[in-house]
Amino acid sequence: MGNTSIVQQIEEAVRSIRAVYSLEPRIGIVLGSGLGNLAQEIVAEKEIAYTDIPHFPVSTVEGHQGKLIFGTLNGVPVAVLSGRFHYYEGYSPQQVVFPIRVLKFLGVETLLLSNAAGGMNARFHVGDLMIIHDHISFFIVNPLLGRNESQLGPRFPDMSEPYSKALIQKAKAIAGRLNIPLHEGVYAGVTGPTFETRAEYKFLHLAGGDAVGMSTVQEVIAARHVGMSVFAISVITDLGIREEDNIITHEEVLAAAAAAEPKLTALFKGLVAEL
Ligand code: HPA
Repeated sequence: MGNTSIVQQIEEAVRSIRAVYSLEPRIGIVLGSGLGNLAQEIVAEKEIAYTDIPHFPVSTVEGHQGKLIFGTLNGVPVAVLSGRFHYYEGYSPQQVVFPIRVLKFLGVETLLLSNAAGGMNARFHVGDLMIIHDHISFFIVNPLLGRNESQLGPRFPDMSEPYSKALIQKAKAIAGRLNIPLHEGVYAGVTGPTFETRAEYKFLHLAGGDAVGMSTVQEVIAARHVGMSVFAISVITDLGIREEDNIITHEEVLAAAAAAEPKLTALFKGLVAEL
């Protein structure tokens, strides 16, 4: 197995999925920490445990379930990765993005991602949503390092529009109709698993980040590499530690994410209906 190429591994995973589910949704959704409840809005047709898919890593974090769900959201066919893989869990960058590549080979053209993130922009409050319009990778290993698989995409992918402007426009229009306030900003991607020090929150903000989180960047790189359109949104679950005497806990992040989830669900439901 050590000798099989990434493309062969993707094809094996796809074959095993196709053996139990044959429809081809064009929309893929990745749910972030504490944001798994959106899965309950899916009218599921088939759920496949990650453990039953060849070469899929298995997720270890609290708040992540680890299954691929096929079904409809608001009547629209979707493939949902309920549970994602983080670099901080010890997976290689290639493992982190494996499910994203599988979605592409299953026929997905548009990828919607959500995540929990720390707010650094002074206008942000806990529970707010931020559309990601760009990102900065801080020391995250690029999943495309190594030999390029030309069947996946180009050696030097363009990143001038990692997050689709058209999808951002649609989301803003939908949010306006639904009365959901939205920020737009830059996601600073870090490895974690430590939350940032006071000096790091300050630095990441000065360096151009509006929110900071431990996921998404590698997935977006892989998705752009294979030519998918991407939309991503952060739920602001904390405001860093700044000057005050506060601390941040994973429990607080999960609770804030769960509280904000209905807004995210409404937005995603509206968005899939327009794709
Ligand atoms: N920093 C990094 N990742 C996060 C944070 C944070 O403050 N909140 C949620 N995910």
